[in-house]
Amino acid sequence: MKRVLTGIKPTGYAHIGNYFGAIKPAIELSNNSDFECFYFLADYHALNTLKTKEELELYTKNIACTWLACGLDPNKIVFYKQSDIPEIFELCWILSNVTPKGLMNRAHAYKAMVEKNQQNGDDADAGVNMGLYNYPILMASDILLFGTNVVPVGLDQKQHIEMARDIANSFNSKYGKTLVVPEEYIQENVAVFYGLDGRKMSKSYGNTIQLFDTEENLRKTINKIVTDSRLPGEPKDADCTINKLYKFFAPKQQAEQFEQDLKNGLGWGEAKKQLFAVMNAYIAPMREKFDYYMAHFDEVEEMLKRGAEKARKIAREQLDKVRLAIGAKK
Ligand code: TRP
Repeated sequence: MKRVLTGIKPTGYAHIGNYFGAIKPAIELSNNSDFECFYFLADYHALNTLKTKEELELYTKNIACTWLACGLDPNKIVFYKQSDIPEIFELCWILSNVTPKGLMNRAHAYKAMVEKNQQNGDDADAGVNMGLYNYPILMASDILLFGTNVVPVGLDQKQHIEMARDIANSFNSKYGKTLVVPEEYIQENVAVFYGLDGRKMSKSYGNTIQLFDTEENLRKTINKIVTDSRLPGEPKDADCTINKLYKFFAPKQQAEQFEQDLKNGLGWGEAKKQLFAVMNAYIAPMREKFDYYMAHFDEVEEMLKRGAEKARKIAREQLDKVRLAIGAKK
């Protein structure tokens, strides 16, 4: 049986790109009995981005309820909050000692900050804290502590998994084979999800569609999708954002009909109405569950507590092996 692990960083409300790119495939994987799944809220990774205590609370709650609303079954998988597992942070320190600084210098997020600073004529490390710099080691700890075989992630996380592999190999070559070397699992067909402006849907572009919002807000957001200025009656491009989004929410035949209607000159206003209808029908049953969990968050906290207990049992065993390997324990 393969062990699968993935985390979502609670730095904002879940959007539909997160749903199709990460949450839905992860839940499908958890229904396959060949896999033993560990899914968690990477709240200590979010610390680096968030400005206030309220944000961390709010987004952690939102992401926890999102997983459950989307169908995650906490009895079938191990579902927990990163900060409830102190063993991760102990392993993080140990792994720091087998991680070359040069490897961290090459991390995309850090490098992007340095390049921006250099362009602005600032000190190379301006605005960089150690949380950002050590981010990949913490992520390696998340993964390696549980003897993970497979990590389902988006393409943007590929380098982090490669680093986790490098760190595992570096530990194993110094102390003997102790850590499982993980592999990433990237679903190519869902790697890119388009946002309101036609670019990749991403919080950093401000072009997302929130997964669980009120119906009215969903309608308003859909109305913000950027279109060209073609009038009703003029043929539309099948490559437009509205059509691309529609395909994710409608059965194949219905999506084909919609595309044909666009080519035949369906107006943008009407197209947006139809997109709203199909999206809202898809999301509504999950939204109902989401609203329930948000209103009964004590139940969710109980589930996370039980998840943390299961996770810590495995974490302690693994950490003991590591401590034994390095000579910190007999
Ligand atoms: N870095 C990931 C992201 O930004 C979140 C994450 C933290 C993660 N730890 C992980 C993903 C371990 C997979 C495995 O989305």
